[in-house]
Amino acid sequence: MQFSYSNPTNIFFGQGQIAAINTVIPTDSKVLVVYGGGSIKKNGVYNQVAKALEGYQWQEFSGVEPNPTVETLNKAVEIVKAEGITYLLAVGGGSVIDGTKYIAAASLYDGDGWDIMTGDYKVTDAIPLGAILTLPATGSESNKGAVVTKKATQHKSGFLSPFVQPKFAVLDPDAMKTLPERQQLNGLVDAWVHVCEQYITKPAGGMVQDGFAEALLKNLIQLGNDFANRDSDAWRANLMWSANQALNGLIGCGVPQDWATHMIGHELTALYDVDHARSLAIIQPSLLRNQIEVKRAKLEQMGINVFGLTKSADLAERTIDAIEGFYHGLNVPTQLTEHNGDKSEAISAIITQLEQHGLVSLGENQAITLDETKKILANAVS
Ligand code: NZQ
Ligand code: ZN
Repeated sequence: MQFSYSNPTNIFFGQGQIAAINTVIPTDSKVLVVYGGGSIKKNGVYNQVAKALEGYQWQEFSGVEPNPTVETLNKAVEIVKAEGITYLLAVGGGSVIDGTKYIAAASLYDGDGWDIMTGDYKVTDAIPLGAILTLPATGSESNKGAVVTKKATQHKSGFLSPFVQPKFAVLDPDAMKTLPERQQLNGLVDAWVHVCEQYITKPAGGMVQDGFAEALLKNLIQLGNDFANRDSDAWRANLMWSANQALNGLIGCGVPQDWATHMIGHELTALYDVDHARSLAIIQPSLLRNQIEVKRAKLEQMGINVFGLTKSADLAERTIDAIEGFYHGLNVPTQLTEHNGDKSEAISAIITQLEQHGLVSLGENQAITLDETKKILANAVS
């Protein structure tokens, strides 16, 4: 085990915490509030933000889409540059927060912001940002990652930089009260797969990482089983905190990580507009079956410690069935149906995208080649 770990995001958790933002945003800031399609106007979050920002110089940028596009975000970059904005406040789900991270970095770069996504420009500075979370799922509110799409080429790509990690994040479970059922399910599934990507690899002897990952997985199962009672403060708070902890960097410290499900899933979103979390549920069971031999030990550990299964020769197989059963129990499909119905055409379109994006050897062993991905897709595309 060898790592350096720091999570510098100051978290304000609980009801009414939006009011705290004026204790952390410097009073002389020129703030740009960034949000999405307007859900924050329906749940009172926008009004709470406006109240907390009384006395500040602030303006807003709305219209950041789910799976944010560089085409939209670049308009905000122009505003930041023209108006001399000094602080960004993201109010929304992962898309708004990721988009704001891009704006923060691209605003201090003279070239084409997409260079950040291609790696042609390595971020060296960013405008400070804070986040008010309204959809627990991605963990973006307290991590250094962001995923942005170039609509023109259907390219969904990520970047990581410590400079875009939010200075603070408000996690008020009340903001979730207006979440549609579909997004609540997406939150459960995305958080679940984040833990799996850092856990179902090969044994590395990380007792803290494994133990904490297992606790999070058991929480998510319990919240899924209790989905009918989701309109409760405790349900909302526990999903919000679990999803945050699933991808704030801690459980991945010093252990192998996979992320192949995410990389392939991003292509499903870029090509067929599949919700992020749902792209993962489509790919993951088939990917685990494809990689079962190298992942057998961790799948067996998960079967016993998370699902309470008993030992047997086919324990790893039964654990994958239980994972798939978790999705089906939530009515989340595990087959791609969003393409035009031509299976082989869809598979070759996805493979072409992966090849173009250099995603030709994925997973903790770089063993998921395009040939393996084809086999994975054969069982995931209907
Ligand atoms: O735009 P608004 O009107 O706010 O509506 C949103 C959007 O339509 C709505 N919503 C959010 N909070 C709401 C609400 N509706 C009612 N009440 C509320 N309280 O939900 C819809 C989806 O929002 P979005 O932000 O797109 O969802 P999510 O949080 O799942 O984010 C997905 C994006 O994050 C990326 C994904 O790839 C995708 O682009 N990811 C980011 C990661 C990271 N930064 O670490 C890791 C993840 O693996 C993921 O890749
Ligand atoms: Zn995810």
